[in-house]
Amino acid sequence: MTIDGKQVVVPEGTTIYEAALQARITIPTLCFVEEMGEGGTCGICSVEVEGEPEPQLACKTPVSPGMVVRTDTPRIREIREAIQMMIRLAKALPPASRRGQERPGGGLYTP
Ligand code: FES
Repeated sequence: MTIDGKQVVVPEGTTIYEAALQARITIPTLCFVEEMGEGGTCGICSVEVEGEPEPQLACKTPVSPGMVVRTDTPRIREIREAIQMMIRLAKALPPASRRGQERPGGGLYTP
């Protein structure tokens, strides 16, 4: 398989994320913790796979022979920026327990 133009040989069952590590290519992760093997919910590890119409999750997608992966394309950067923006927005929101309560300076906390 090829990741960002680098040839990588990995055993069957290896994920794109693991193959990228072997090739010394960093793919960002949020919900995936290597030792726990979870992930698949945040989408920040999305990569483009030639022949696939939609981005694939590097932390969950196993490699296949001849697979061509791109980790840094305009589309992938756009996805990662959108996810980071959603995280920043979520942090700016008041906790759910305070919604509807009065703010110190007046007005109510809203969602
Ligand atoms: S790291 Fe979250 S979906 Fe892959």
